[in-house]
Amino acid sequence: MGSRILVTGGAGFIGSNFVHHLVAHTDAHVTVLDKLTYAGNASSLDGLPVGRVRLVRGDVADAGLVEQLFRETDAVVHYAAESHNDNSLQDPRPFLDTNVIGTYTLLEAARRHDVRYHHISTDEVYGDLEIDDPARFTESTPYNPSSPYSATKGASDLLVRAWVRSFGVRATISNCSNNYGPRQHVEKFIPRQITNLLDGLRPKLYGAGANVRDWIHAEDHSSAVLAILERGRIGETYLIGADGELSNRDVLALILRKMGMPEDGFDHVADRPGHDRRYAIDSAKLRSELGWTPQFRDFERGLEETIAWYRSNEDWWRPQKARTEADYRKRGQ
Ligand code: NAD
Ligand code: DAU
Repeated sequence: MGSRILVTGGAGFIGSNFVHHLVAHTDAHVTVLDKLTYAGNASSLDGLPVGRVRLVRGDVADAGLVEQLFRETDAVVHYAAESHNDNSLQDPRPFLDTNVIGTYTLLEAARRHDVRYHHISTDEVYGDLEIDDPARFTESTPYNPSSPYSATKGASDLLVRAWVRSFGVRATISNCSNNYGPRQHVEKFIPRQITNLLDGLRPKLYGAGANVRDWIHAEDHSSAVLAILERGRIGETYLIGADGELSNRDVLALILRKMGMPEDGFDHVADRPGHDRRYAIDSAKLRSELGWTPQFRDFERGLEETIAWYRSNEDWWRPQKARTEADYRKRGQ
């Protein structure tokens, strides 16, 4: 792995976690390429050494800018995306522009400059599982995405596979399950409920809340990505997960309990159209091939720390909260 790393989407939730992780665990120099959409927050990079991390505001679909940055890059880790399923149901277009054309633009630059490329993707490309099915996703599960978001992520993964096979691009792909931790946008499930409670609002559960997500701490996602970047086999896909399956109802009950509220102190709201029932990751390949193991095995403790972070960092999330809740109200959620 080279020491000049381009991290796209590095001002977002998981990308910024990875930049902090790189600074703490490697001697890499990092360039963040981020459009600073509503989901990006430059202050997520506060406190990092200016001599090692620089932020370039721009679009991954801007071929001229990408060309310029790839001339001074040894490896790229591509996090930038439109990432929220609910938004993709309202207006899919930005998902195509960023997730598909943006990925295409980076792949073409990686091909021209022979830059090592790691592609960040999601378990949602595999569709969903029955709630009571013991099966979990593996690297050979067929793609079957449900939402415009997951369809564009699936499309981007397939572009990567084609660029590896047809053009010899040195790429790897990882598909991870639901992340939680500090600096996640308040539109997402866990931070939305925590900040609702901090604001005296009732949490909102879609439908009956029986849907299951497989939670992993963002820090464990970052350590897995670094392991793949350093030691992964070119052309391979690795699933990242930490055996964290929980129903939304159970996660919400925990948040309510940890924040001193009664367990029935929430509202059922309109369900998400096409709502995936269950995601579950089998990460055996990553663990056995690269020796990776998650460090945050205690979800309750990770959740307490996450709640504490939102309590102490209102300045970070406050500017997004009112608009996010106004959008949800319009959709009956
Ligand atoms: P996020 O929405 O918090 O951050 C996305 C970042 O990308 C933001 O900083 C935004 O400004 C930037 N961005 C958006 N469009 C851009 C563009 N055209 N050019 C440059 N920058 C742009 O998202 P996240 O939750 O941190 O997800 C990051 C990546 O991880 C995505 O690729 C997502 O599909 C993937 N992923 C997320 C999860 C999860 O649970 N959140 C799980 C698995 C995979
Ligand atoms: O599985 C990985 C994916 O996880 C990533 O690819 C996505 O980028 C990321 O957003 C996440 O997708 P989900 O749709 O699972 O995450 P979200 O936080 O939007 O919702 C989690 C679950 O909680 C989902 O079943 C919907 C439900 N939900 C969500 C919100 C915002 C609620 O019940 N109430 C809510 O208010």
